[in-house]
Amino acid sequence: MNSNLLADNPRSTVAAPVLRTKAELRAAVAEAKREGRTVGFVPTMGYLHEGHLSLIRAARAECDLVVMSLFVNPTQFGAGEDLDRYPRDEERDLQLASEAGADLVFAPEVEEVYPDGHKGIATYVEVTGQLTGVLDGDPSRRGPEHFRGVTTVVAKLFNLVDPDVAYFGQKDAQQAVVIRRMVRDLDFPVRIEVLPTVREPDGLAMSSRNAYLGEEDRQRATALNRALQAAERGAREGGIGVGLEAARRELALAGIEPEYLEARDAETLERVDALEERPILVLVAAQVGPARLIDNVLIHPTNVK
Ligand code: PAJ
Repeated sequence: MNSNLLADNPRSTVAAPVLRTKAELRAAVAEAKREGRTVGFVPTMGYLHEGHLSLIRAARAECDLVVMSLFVNPTQFGAGEDLDRYPRDEERDLQLASEAGADLVFAPEVEEVYPDGHKGIATYVEVTGQLTGVLDGDPSRRGPEHFRGVTTVVAKLFNLVDPDVAYFGQKDAQQAVVIRRMVRDLDFPVRIEVLPTVREPDGLAMSSRNAYLGEEDRQRATALNRALQAAERGAREGGIGVGLEAARRELALAGIEPEYLEARDAETLERVDALEERPILVLVAAQVGPARLIDNVLIHPTNVK
C-alpha cells in the first residue's frame, strides 16, 4: 500500500488493494468463493466519477466481494480516437473506489491482458448484426470494431472474475444492450444490472471525457440533456417525430450538429417511429469542441397520451 496516499488524504480511507496480474485476481476471487461469498463486478476505464461510484455502491449493497477493474482497453479505441490522451489518475481512482466500497481493484498493464499485444489477438468475442452495426457501431462512426473490443475485454474479465453480478451504466445504452446479448448468447453465468445515468446538477451526463471540455464547451454540452428532455416531452405529446424535431432545435440553439439523434427500440435497437408498447431509447452523439459525447433517455410507454 502506498503510504503517501494515506498521508495526503485527510479522509484517509485505506485505498483498495490493487492487483496487477490475472493470477493474483483469480486467487483472490477463488478464496472468496471458497468461503461462499458472492462476487459483484464493476468494469471501468478509470478517471472515476459519481456514475462509476454509483455502480460500486450498488455492488457493495448486494454482494460480499466487490471487484472493480481499471483498464483503458486499447481494443475498443479506433485509430484517431483518444486512447493516448484518455484521462488517468490511478491514485485518486483507488481512493474513490475504496470509499465507495470496492474491496479489490484489478488494474493490469496492457501486456498482462493482451500478452501478444492488442493487435495480436486471434480470438475475439463479437456480437454481430444490428446491435453493433447502428448508432456508434455504424461504420462511418466508431464502427462494430469498437463493440468487438468491448465484448472481447468484458468476456475476458468475466472469465477472470467469474462474478455473480456485473454492473453497467445506462449512460452507455448501446454497450449495455450489446453486453446483455453476449451474456445471453454465450451463457455467461452472470446477472447484468444496468443502473441509471448519473448527471451533473445542470443535467450533463457524467463522463470521464467531460474532462476534455473547456468552460464554453462545458456550457454548450448541457444542450444534450435538454435535447433529450425535449425529445421525451415532444414524443409523449405529439409523437416521436415531434420529439426529435424539438431535440434537434435545442441542439441547434447551442450550435451542436449531432452525429446521430435517433429513436430506437430499447432492446433490439430497431428504428421506431411511434411510441407503442415497448420502451424506446432516444440516443444522441455529438462532437462538442474536443469531446465526443453520447447521452440517451429511456422512454417507457406508460403515461403516453
Ligand atoms: P467507462 O466509460 O469507464 O464506464 C464504466 C461503466 O460506468 C460503464 O458501465 C458505464 O456505462 C458506466 N458509466 C459511465 N458514465 C456513467 C454515468 N454518468 N452514470 C452511470 N453510469 C455511468 O464503459 C466502459 O468504461 C468500458 O467500455 C468497459 C465496459 C469498462 C470495457 O472496457
